[in-house]
Amino acid sequence: MSSSGVTLTAPVNIALIKYWGKLDETAIIPTNDSLSFTLSQDDMCATTTAMTVARGVKSKFWLNGKEMDLGHPRIRAVVEEVRKIAKVQGTDETLLDLPVRIASINNFPTAAGLASSAAGYAAATAALGALYGVKGDLSRIARIGSGSACRSISGGFVRWIAGSTSEDSIAVQVAPENHWPSLRWLICVVRATPKAVGSTEGMRRTIQTSPLMPARIASVPDKISAITKAIQERNFRAMAELTMQDSNQFHAICLDTFPPLFYMNDVSHRIIDFVHDYNRVKGSLIAGYTFDAGPNACLFTEQENFDELASVVEALFSDGVETDFVKGMKPERKVDASKLL
Ligand code: ADP
Ligand code: DP6
Ligand code: CO
Repeated sequence: MSSSGVTLTAPVNIALIKYWGKLDETAIIPTNDSLSFTLSQDDMCATTTAMTVARGVKSKFWLNGKEMDLGHPRIRAVVEEVRKIAKVQGTDETLLDLPVRIASINNFPTAAGLASSAAGYAAATAALGALYGVKGDLSRIARIGSGSACRSISGGFVRWIAGSTSEDSIAVQVAPENHWPSLRWLICVVRATPKAVGSTEGMRRTIQTSPLMPARIASVPDKISAITKAIQERNFRAMAELTMQDSNQFHAICLDTFPPLFYMNDVSHRIIDFVHDYNRVKGSLIAGYTFDAGPNACLFTEQENFDELASVVEALFSDGVETDFVKGMKPERKVDASKLL
């Protein structure tokens, strides 16, 4: 029997109001809504191929060229859920019964706090969905691979509505990708190696041990409303303040976890100080930051300020870190730091 396959990509998304904590570990029902911005497909993304192979051939899964365990509960759950929905929708069962091979490549650091699980499971869901001809919303399926992945199914600003069941925990677009064209992102790769404690384990530990966590959960609904309004009005100051404060609160919760989770490092802290100093010197709030579960900074500003911000950040921070420390998001640019020294 001949093989047939499909290759698709999915971009990362950057959480402005963070997801951190589950009510249900298997169905991945979060403790709170979250809201993110999905980067363009041309930027940081996962590219995943899914193909059926002849009966008798072994099902396999590769990540970045390395064979992984297809029995891993998350990837297996996604494959099973896609097949289940495809069956209900009438896909030929002989196709669904064939072994499957999945291969995925990230064009950015994996497990380093740059949302690889989001891009990875969104791409796997999209590729498997296309392979088996699944129609309709894929965010519910991507969610069971990795919670944040449900937000990478749509572009632009996306809200994951926590819900309370597998059916109503879905991601919805709150504004399309072209809503705020002047908004630009600058990703600073402070450290590309995998984090010591993965997000799944980290948030489990937080739920079990952080006395501050209930206060955070209670504070999220107002933040979601406020940031949605700020996005709709393209109010940079409000959006940036809410985003920076939520990032800081998330990392405070990580420190309140026991044993504590140190996702940011000294360079991350210096970048935060720099952004506040820069805004003060400029006399207005023109740059913001947010950090996921890792030391790498996601900075944002508006188009008119982008080149200067990128140049200054690279000049100040790129010593001794990765060569492609600063990744300007669209249009591609490479800063020559030596010009500034
Ligand atoms: P990150 O901050 O990068 O999202 P996580 O700890 O949330 O880190 O998740 C990292 C894990 O996500 C990896 O160890 C791997 O299991 C999974 N993952 C990452 N990239 C992919 C991919 N392209 N396809 C499938 N799974 C992936
Ligand atoms: C800090 O989605 O990676 O990036 O659902 O266990 O796979 P799992 O966790 P994951 O957690 C992401 C946490 C975060 C914030 C966010 O993306 O909202
Ligand atoms: Co992740």
